[in-house]
Amino acid sequence: MTQVTLENLTRRFGDVTAVDNLNLEIDSGELVAFLGPSGCGKTTTLRMIAGLLEPTSGDVKFDGASILDTPVEKRGAVMVFQQHLLFANMNVEKNVGFGLRMRGVDRAAIRKRVAEMLDLVRLSGFEDRRPEELSGGQQQRVALARALVVEPRVLLLDEPLANLDANLRLEMRDLIRNIQRRMQITTIFVTHDQEEAVMLADRVALMFDGVIQQYTPPRAFYERPANAGGGALLPQRQPAAGRQARRHGINRAGEPQAWRRRRRAV
Ligand SMILES: Nc1ncnc2c1ncn2[C@@H]1O[C@H](COP(=O)(O)OP(=O)(O)OP(=O)(O)O)[C@@H](O)[C@H]1O
Ligand SMILES: [Mg+2]
Repeated sequence: MTQVTLENLTRRFGDVTAVDNLNLEIDSGELVAFLGPSGCGKTTTLRMIAGLLEPTSGDVKFDGASILDTPVEKRGAVMVFQQHLLFANMNVEKNVGFGLRMRGVDRAAIRKRVAEMLDLVRLSGFEDRRPEELSGGQQQRVALARALVVEPRVLLLDEPLANLDANLRLEMRDLIRNIQRRMQITTIFVTHDQEEAVMLADRVALMFDGVIQQYTPPRAFYERPANAGGGALLPQRQPAAGRQARRHGINRAGEPQAWRRRRRAV
């Protein structure tokens, strides 16, 4: 359980200010969706949290302590990329166990942990397959298992569902939510897709031009978009619900039903 704080976080690339004095606090075990248009600084923010990129200024804190001087492998933040970058020459078992081997964990323990993770993402029995022998969704689940196996403090998911078809997206979304809940990992989930953000997140951070414009629970986000920019990102409210809409969790009023379901689940 780790609280993440971003303080005046800024990153410039030459003349471009990709992330601009950004402040955000993410509670322990919370799932926050970063929602915003292409180029607004989502990936740049994640890379700074993960330790893959140094901020120009500002701070990243885990449980109140700066981690900027902590090297990537010791931060306990893992990132899953849009292109999931499995090792093509390794089978599923070796891919998932990679982080543990790097940490010098003994072989028997690695086997056991990998088996647990594959069970979690429902890929038991796929140990010996290579990435090229898997579907896109299966590869994505291997990438998720590989990230989770090291028991990260913070999980950073950069559009992890972008390459999947609609049905698989829904399935993976639920899987991620369930695992995140069970393991109580503080998680940032980047997406272009407002519906995905609203359905998945405890809070939605709406990002434009390197700043967070709005940071609210999904319901408030839907009802009171911050400004014209925010409103433009939202789908138009349409009373035409029907089966198609309900399949995507939209009720007859054209609202997402995520919060209602969640409340019942608690
Ligand atoms: N290494 C880099 N060098 C120069 N400019 C960069 C670099 N990385 C990112 N940028 C610029 O910073 C801005 C933010 O990029 P970033 O990748 O964070 O956007 P994003 O919100 O993740 O977009 P997308 O949704 O398309 O992935 C963009 O204008 C981008 O061109
Ligand atoms: Mg990006």
